[in-house]
Amino acid sequence: MKAAVLYQYGQPLVVEDVELDEPKAGEVLVKIGAAGICRSDRHFMHGDAHIRLPAVLGHEGAGTVERVGPGVTTTKPGDQVILSFVPACGRCQSCLEGRSNICDTHMATGPFMYDGTCRLHKGRQSLHHMGKVACFAEYAVVPETGCVPVPQKTPIPMDKAAMIGCCVPTGVGAALFSAKVRAGSTVAVVGCGGVGLNVIMGAKLANAGKIIAVDIRDGQLEFAMKFGATHMVNAADRDPVAQVKELTGGRGADYTFEVFGSAETVKAAYDMCGKSGIVTVVGIAPIGDEASINAVDLVRNEKTLRGTYYGSARSRVDMPTLVEMYLAGKLNLDDLVVRHYTLDQVNEAYDDMDRGEVGRGAIMFP
Ligand SMILES: NC(=O)c1ccc[n+]([C@@H]2O[C@H](COP(=O)([O-])OP(=O)(O)OC[C@H]3O[C@@H](n4cnc5c(N)ncnc54)[C@H](O)[C@@H]3O)[C@@H](O)[C@H]2O)c1
Ligand SMILES: [Zn+2]
Ligand SMILES: [Zn+2]
Repeated sequence: MKAAVLYQYGQPLVVEDVELDEPKAGEVLVKIGAAGICRSDRHFMHGDAHIRLPAVLGHEGAGTVERVGPGVTTTKPGDQVILSFVPACGRCQSCLEGRSNICDTHMATGPFMYDGTCRLHKGRQSLHHMGKVACFAEYAVVPETGCVPVPQKTPIPMDKAAMIGCCVPTGVGAALFSAKVRAGSTVAVVGCGGVGLNVIMGAKLANAGKIIAVDIRDGQLEFAMKFGATHMVNAADRDPVAQVKELTGGRGADYTFEVFGSAETVKAAYDMCGKSGIVTVVGIAPIGDEASINAVDLVRNEKTLRGTYYGSARSRVDMPTLVEMYLAGKLNLDDLVVRHYTLDQVNEAYDDMDRGEVGRGAIMFP
């Protein structure tokens, strides 16, 4: 089958033929339907984040179950499934405490299957599985626990299902589950790409009052208005902190979200947050980056600074709910996915993301 492999940081992905083993016990073979273009893969491509190389990237995906390994009971051939890049073991401390989004077993085994081996190979070389998903490929073998069946009898469009694999739970979850945005509050979102737009949708679902979109590109800002933003701040023209303060009567926002991934934007999100405010960091900054925070302001203004992984969502519980919300017209995923590519165009898709094309791109598989 064809897959997009990262061999070296700073190099484009190589789309080539690779081998995929049959699913072992507790594993599922999925025919990929769509895979989203998320910046988290880009960090690996740039070497801003590290993964065991070589690796098949792609972690925002959905498809159809082709075959199941021994002992699989929660899904069957023919099911439409959304893939979770944190398959939750259900047994570790984090899972038992209800935080399956940071499952200890998954974190410890990283880009390997639970048994510490890979199902992907190129000749004698093992290829690692990004997030145990590796959906920039025609097929994927994933743990059963990372395979979330769509409850509806009729499949939903694959590109929308794929979004529910990462940017939707991450963004909507950051607003609803991590920060728990209050009705009537003021929210500022720094970075309005695929994930940031979902934070905006989450803030709207929470009935936030003002939702301030902050980005360096007018195109993203105007696009963000479609998803519930009420105000725009262009951070390229003028200090975004001063602009958000102006829009909030000098107080700063009640909730701010960093959704790009840099020390500079983490600091901006922190500084534009007001008294008793909650700063939620979603973006993944380059390894080694440190953001400087005014330590006294943190205390005197009783601010909270927190990170969020996978929007604090519990995949197996929250993904089916997000599908229901999409079908009920509460999540605008139809406008979110704006560009479609083939797997051969994956590098082009990431160049488009870097150029600042609005909305989310998705690779579609025939
Ligand atoms: N925490 C998690 O679980 C999780 C999950 C998915 C993605 N992420 C991370 O979230 C971040 C966003 O991902 P994405 O796919 O939406 O990326 P994206 O490229 O689609 O969006 C990033 C946006 O930030 C804007 N931007 C760039 N510099 C800016 C600045 N200085 N000020 C304001 N805006 C700026 C860009 O114009 C773009 O619109 C990435 O770092 C990604 O790795 C985290
Ligand atoms: Zn992602
Ligand atoms: Zn676990």
